[in-house]
Amino acid sequence: MYNSNLRTLVAGLALALPVAAASTVDKRDFDVFDYVDPLIGTINGGHVFPGATLPFGMAKAVADVDNPNEKQGGFASDNSDITGFSHMHDSGTGGASSADSPSLGNFPIFPQTGCLGDDINNCYFTKTDRASQRINGTVQAKPGYFAVSLNTSIFTEMTVTNHTALYRLTFPSNSTAATKNGSSVPYSPVILVDLTDLPESRTDGNIIVDPTTGRISGSGTFNPSFGIGSYNIHFCADFSGAEVRDTGVFQNNRASSDTKTLGTRADGVNSPPLPAGAWTQFKAPANNQILARVGVSFISVEQACNSAETEIPDFGFDTVRSAAEDAWRKKLSVVEVDATGVSDELQTVFWSGMYRSMISPQDYTGENYLWNSTEPYYDSYYCIWDSFRSIHPLITLLDPESQTLMVRSLIDIYRHEGKLPDCRMSLCKGFTQGGSNADVVLADSYLKNISANVDWETGYKALVSDSEDEPLDWSVEGRGGLTSWKTLGYIPTDDLDFIGSGPFTRSISRTVEYAYNDFCIAEVAKGLGQTADAEKYLARSDNWKNMYKADQNSSVNGTTGYVNETVDTGFTGFLQPKYPNGTWGFQDPSLCSPLYNFTSCYLNPDGHETYEGSSWMYTFFVPQDMATLVTTLGGPEAFVDRLSYLHTSGLLYIGDEQAFLPVFQFHYAGRPALSAKFSHFYIPSQFNDTLTGIAGNDDSGAMGSFTTLAMMGLWPISGQDVYLITPPYFPEVSITNGQTGKKATVRNVNFDSEYENIYIQSATLNGAAYSKNWIEHSFWLEGGTLELTLGKNESTWGTAAADLPPSSSSGF
Ligand SMILES: *[C@@H]1O[C@H](CO)[C@@H](O)[C@H](O)[C@H]1NC(C)=O
Ligand SMILES: *[C@@H]1O[C@H](CO)[C@@H](O)[C@H](O)[C@H]1NC(C)=O
Ligand SMILES: *[C@@H]1O[C@H](CO)[C@@H](O)[C@H](O)[C@H]1NC(C)=O
Ligand SMILES: *[C@@H]1O[C@H](CO)[C@@H](O)[C@H](O)[C@H]1NC(C)=O
Ligand SMILES: *[C@@H]1O[C@H](CO)[C@@H](O)[C@H](O)[C@H]1NC(C)=O
Ligand SMILES: *[C@@H]1O[C@H](CO)[C@@H](O)[C@H](O)[C@H]1NC(C)=O
Ligand SMILES: *[C@@H]1O[C@H](CO)[C@@H](O)[C@H](O)[C@H]1NC(C)=O
Ligand SMILES: *[C@@H]1O[C@H](CO)[C@@H](O)[C@H](O)[C@H]1NC(C)=O
Ligand SMILES: *[C@@H]1O[C@H](CO)[C@@H](O)[C@H](O)[C@H]1NC(C)=O
Ligand SMILES: *[C@@H]1O[C@H](CO)[C@@H](O)[C@H](O)[C@H]1NC(C)=O
Ligand SMILES: *[C@@H]1O[C@H](CO)[C@@H](O)[C@H](O)[C@H]1NC(C)=O
Ligand SMILES: *[C@@H]1O[C@H](CO)[C@@H](O)[C@H](O)[C@H]1NC(C)=O
Repeated sequence: MYNSNLRTLVAGLALALPVAAASTVDKRDFDVFDYVDPLIGTINGGHVFPGATLPFGMAKAVADVDNPNEKQGGFASDNSDITGFSHMHDSGTGGASSADSPSLGNFPIFPQTGCLGDDINNCYFTKTDRASQRINGTVQAKPGYFAVSLNTSIFTEMTVTNHTALYRLTFPSNSTAATKNGSSVPYSPVILVDLTDLPESRTDGNIIVDPTTGRISGSGTFNPSFGIGSYNIHFCADFSGAEVRDTGVFQNNRASSDTKTLGTRADGVNSPPLPAGAWTQFKAPANNQILARVGVSFISVEQACNSAETEIPDFGFDTVRSAAEDAWRKKLSVVEVDATGVSDELQTVFWSGMYRSMISPQDYTGENYLWNSTEPYYDSYYCIWDSFRSIHPLITLLDPESQTLMVRSLIDIYRHEGKLPDCRMSLCKGFTQGGSNADVVLADSYLKNISANVDWETGYKALVSDSEDEPLDWSVEGRGGLTSWKTLGYIPTDDLDFIGSGPFTRSISRTVEYAYNDFCIAEVAKGLGQTADAEKYLARSDNWKNMYKADQNSSVNGTTGYVNETVDTGFTGFLQPKYPNGTWGFQDPSLCSPLYNFTSCYLNPDGHETYEGSSWMYTFFVPQDMATLVTTLGGPEAFVDRLSYLHTSGLLYIGDEQAFLPVFQFHYAGRPALSAKFSHFYIPSQFNDTLTGIAGNDDSGAMGSFTTLAMMGLWPISGQDVYLITPPYFPEVSITNGQTGKKATVRNVNFDSEYENIYIQSATLNGAAYSKNWIEHSFWLEGGTLELTLGKNESTWGTAAADLPPSSSSGF
């Protein structure tokens, strides 16, 4: 893996042409949309949603395909068939297992130019029957806009407002190849709405069509994709551009115009749920176009119709599209770069990653039927285990107002559900993967002036609740094993826990995550003047030490390239399983790394003691006290050797979020130059502008936020007021802070587009020498200029003990 990565990196660099696309002079001509490609990550498991959405919007329209392994984001850039066009999606979800269900995709519409022999029963109704190829080369994806042609020659375009999708369907004026089987048909378009969703999880539903207006509306009950329970959702579809000719319903492949409603009783359509829906048939549209406007709501059909009518009163496609584009331009405009010499590829990686970081969480304010509240409600925290590390820190930088609303919504979820979520989608509780990592999100925001109307007193109660009160079902919220946590100081392997239930796996990764979560609680306690609590949680943040087995060694498989050869890594001391009686268990430190049974550590009951990664990797997860970790692992030199080995041996998979922090942890051993080196080791070889250009699932934009932050040069340690300094991938990057209106600039002196000069020789902050290898959030709030002078070789800048980032053991 190491070798192939390296080869790709070298090849990538050799090919990167210096392009002077946007210099400081012609900055104003720069169109950021030229560098946003929503299609990146729409194949090979990226699961990115490439359709039309507003920033954090609820309506997300795209063409849905039928490839079960790729349809998580609705569309995929492969050769699969299109089965419909639906209005809500999640982006980047799903683990390595193909069983991970896609989200949402409710009530797809599907257009046909006419029916064979002008018989409605000859139109295609079920997903399988109507599935049609796309015409290659017709896909267009831009912020706020998506388009594709079906092989029936219907050109489909879509754009959105916050709760409404708008489709412009252009039918072929002639009837050639106008139906799926290639025969010509009388020109009388049919648009159906299917009572289904992407995973086909409907358990109940009803639909009605108005014979006069052609309006189709309805409701359904569906299952969340990675959680428990079910959710209700409603829609309201109106059409414009052609006269209504006929209306009706369908079940399986049979249609009727005598009946206008289905599923209003417990009937044959819902028990068991059958393919069913309604349709409206039109006379030939005057200009060959029909507009379909679909409002969605979790509250009621009435609210769905009302949103649609209010947000898009006149079906003006171009107006809606340009409003969506303006919303995106505004969000992206807080960042300015001098891109002189930076390749188009890297610019595209940078801006596309930023764009994907603002697709979710989704603003469902006013759409939450679970409780009445005047607080904002955001959903699709999918999942916080993925998003706490870099998505929320990036949103905090780019859009502190949205982050503030999200924090308020998290606290309101605690108020009404009793716990903060670790994962949440479609108004349902999602599965917890490790710790209670909303604690990190809250602490990070608390430290970074996310304050407007935030009830931090209740927020603090939510944090304490995570550490103190075990819920009955800790597979969906809070933590398990809290009795052991408080008495033994670790989560034992094969724990005994009478209080709640959840999967008794991941004892190592849960221990290190709970320890960091408690550190984050300690920080907020300190800020709120809760000194005794601060000391208590600070003490618990040392609990990682209790699972560190100092004499554990590690051999790995085939590192030298000889298959099946076992090699002693030479490193000793790893996190290991430990039973309640204090006896050590054993888990090969490389298990669940790419070198050994990579996919054996998921949430399945036979999972292991680490989650989605190896003990090798989790042994580095002590962000609160890296100083002690460095000493524990043998001092700075041994630490650097070990961390380098993690990256170069094939033990680390960069496509999963826990891999982000180790790229930059060299800073803590006084080697900030190596963090820069390893950042370039992964970007662009593993993150590029191709359709496959994301190493793993994007996870709601997590991979995108990683690349954007890494390329900005200041890596946030989420949960701390610390950014580790590496040189930006641009001559200069600036951010205008949304709270203070001040601009902060990071500037490289001696920037070279071949990225040979990536080592900081010296730095100044607002003109004064700056030797610390990290900086605080006040830089972004107060504005100013951090100037980094670069060279080809590692220097002594940022290497002295006094230059290193803070650790809990050396001053809290
Ligand atoms: C359109 O695509 C569908 C699904 O692949 C296929 O069955 C059908 O033959 C195609 N029709 C035309 C006209 O190409
Ligand atoms: C479209 O392109 C795919 C490859 O991406 C190819 O497999 C398929 O045959 C093409 N379809 C048509 C109709 O040309
Ligand atoms: C969409 O919602 C956002 C809040 O998430 C709001 O700022 C924006 O104004 C809304 N857009 C419209 C057109 O109402
Ligand atoms: C019919 O219309 C479609 C779409 O406008 C076009 O691609 C096709 O070439 C036309 N066919 C004929 C025979 O004019
Ligand atoms: C399409 O289906 C109709 C009805 O079954 C049939 O009459 C016609 O021959 C088919 N056309 C083609 C091109 O297969
Ligand atoms: C919210 O308030 C409305 C209006 O008072 C009421 O009808 C509804 O039942 C309330 N919902 C909940 C979940 O309490
Ligand atoms: C904190 O944020 C508020 C707005 O939420 C802003 O008015 C204030 O200036 C910020 N404080 C600092 C120290 O930047
Ligand atoms: C590696 O070892 C395993 C177990 O001994 C064996 O089944 C497998 O064939 C070996 N693989 C190669 C490529 O030698
Ligand atoms: C501790 O528990 C483990 C796992 O149940 C067991 O294998 C071991 O023998 C126990 N050790 C002692 C000293 O009782
Ligand atoms: C070691 O690597 C080889 C080749 O990749 C693989 O076949 C074998 O299963 C691996 N052994 C273990 C224990 O992972
Ligand atoms: C590794 O995977 C193999 C094949 O699935 C399985 O037989 C073996 O038990 C696994 N080892 C561990 C430690 O899980
Ligand atoms: C682009 O990124 C993907 C995903 O990491 C990787 O598999 C591929 O090799 C990269 N392509 C190039 C040309 O570097």
